[in-house]
Amino acid sequence: MAHTVLYILFHLLFMSSYSYVQSTEQGFISIDISDKGLDFVKDQLISKAISTLTPLQLPQIEKSLTIPVVGRVQFTLSNITIYGVGVSSSTVKPGETGVTIVATGATANLSMDWRYSYSTWLIPIAISDEGSASVQVEGMEVGLTLELKNQQGTLKLSLLECGCYVRDISIKLDGGASWLYQGAVDALKENIGSAVEDAVSKKIRDGVVTLDSVLQSLPKAVILGDTAALNVSFVSDPLLTNSSVDLEIDGLFTAKDKVVISSRYDRNFQALGLCKSPDKMAGISLHENVFNSALFVYYDANLMHWIVDKIPDQSLLNTAGWRYVIPQLYKQFPDYDMNVNISVASPPLVKIEKQNIIATIYTDVTIDVLDAGEVIPVLCISLEISASGFAEISRNSLAGGVRLSEFTMSLKWSEIGKLRMHLVQSVMSTILKTVVIPYVNLRLRRGFPLPLFDGYKLQDPQILYIDSRIVACTDVASVTQVNLNQLVQNS
Ligand SMILES: *[C@@H]1O[C@H](CO)[C@@H](O)[C@H](O)[C@H]1NC(C)=O
Ligand SMILES: *[C@@H]1O[C@H](CO)[C@@H](O)[C@H](O)[C@H]1NC(C)=O
Ligand SMILES: *[C@@H]1O[C@H](CO)[C@@H](O)[C@H](O)[C@H]1NC(C)=O
Ligand SMILES: *[C@@H]1O[C@H](CO)[C@@H](O)[C@H](O)[C@H]1NC(C)=O
Ligand SMILES: *[C@@H]1O[C@H](CO)[C@@H](O)[C@H](O)[C@H]1NC(C)=O
Repeated sequence: MAHTVLYILFHLLFMSSYSYVQSTEQGFISIDISDKGLDFVKDQLISKAISTLTPLQLPQIEKSLTIPVVGRVQFTLSNITIYGVGVSSSTVKPGETGVTIVATGATANLSMDWRYSYSTWLIPIAISDEGSASVQVEGMEVGLTLELKNQQGTLKLSLLECGCYVRDISIKLDGGASWLYQGAVDALKENIGSAVEDAVSKKIRDGVVTLDSVLQSLPKAVILGDTAALNVSFVSDPLLTNSSVDLEIDGLFTAKDKVVISSRYDRNFQALGLCKSPDKMAGISLHENVFNSALFVYYDANLMHWIVDKIPDQSLLNTAGWRYVIPQLYKQFPDYDMNVNISVASPPLVKIEKQNIIATIYTDVTIDVLDAGEVIPVLCISLEISASGFAEISRNSLAGGVRLSEFTMSLKWSEIGKLRMHLVQSVMSTILKTVVIPYVNLRLRRGFPLPLFDGYKLQDPQILYIDSRIVACTDVASVTQVNLNQLVQNS
């Protein structure tokens, strides 16, 4: 239950591949990430990388060196540990083959133990000394290029290139006759440098594999309740322009246990860059067919019927309350309790227009008289209801509400003769306004969960209605640090 559109945003957006080829498939849900969003993802990645990078143990280094006075000895550096990494500046840039992240001016602090020993048949007494050292790595550059491709609906992340370059190292020895060996240890700079380069590159490769497994483990469908599943498969490779990364997600609801043979919705549209606000990190756009497919699924599952037996004005559920509206009903069933059977007659239709959401709903309203446990339908009225709606984001959910715009009605059948429809109309209006619309709103207010990873939240979302779509332009903020391994386990 806890996964939906935005759930994906973060996994999915760890990176995206560059592609000049226009994607052919369009999704009903699109996510556009702006430069600002990419920057945010990059910063999150780097801070996660740093926290998983340290402490990092490097392999022992051995080298034979000449030490003044002592002569040629075997020098060993062991327990080499990177315990701190700092990144002063970093960039993320889409390139022709993939997205490149470069961290420049990175620093690393290492600690290590050093020792040497020396003995020959000439001098049988072993000469040795040992101590510890701290190493400061300066001006380290780390670069990697990532590619993200659609692979049967999930995203496949691969590392195209990765490099780490250490520009300068300074070593400070403690213990032993440090002054004596400083020069010797300085000769090991290059070895330490390449050990750091190798270790960091390997760690990045491992990290990308971990991230990829996070992506692979994302569900292709998000189950909502007992009935519906939202198809969150990717329909094409991520599409990169020079100012955004676009992800296309199928975005249609299907019945939870049903295999859908063909799509009833036309995919012929273009929805790039709907969020025109470059100071927002992402635009999440939902086509009206996302909602229409959900409504269809619930309709098809026979869930759009309900029997109203409690209303604010309970007198409307007794024939006495209808005495003046339908006198013959009262005559035939004096003071009988009633209920109202509201039954949606075809899948409701949602249209998103500029500044507005319009829903059209055809329902049959059957009035039942209750006679000692027996339900006697007495008349049925067909309604065509127009409602206008709005969407909002509250606490990481997409919620909304509807208002009754207008309705028209006609008598479908009657067991009690002709009705004066204008009188019935006002009762119907009361029932719609006091029962039906509040009921629908109660449901809608619960919303459609857009959970992020634990530790992230939507910030200052702004909702736009554009061209058959609802677009949420939003920032994302991290609430706490996220542990990558935990993500793998959770997904
Ligand atoms: C490795 O170094 C750390 C800190 O410098 C020290 O606490 C630890 O005892 C050392 N381990 C060994 C096996 O010498
Ligand atoms: C490395 O050590 C220096 C001095 O000891 C300190 O100023 C710096 O913040 C440390 N850097 C990291 C990344 O731990
Ligand atoms: C991005 O591409 C558009 C046209 O495709 C161009 O007008 C614009 O200058 C480009 N922006 C950058 C920053 O390269
Ligand atoms: C989900 O969408 C993908 C891409 O449109 C499609 O190939 C797949 O069959 C859909 N899955 C279901 C269960 O409808
Ligand atoms: C409610 O009305 C529909 C037709 O409008 C009918 O099919 C259904 O059986 C009725 N439900 C009940 C419980 O009477």
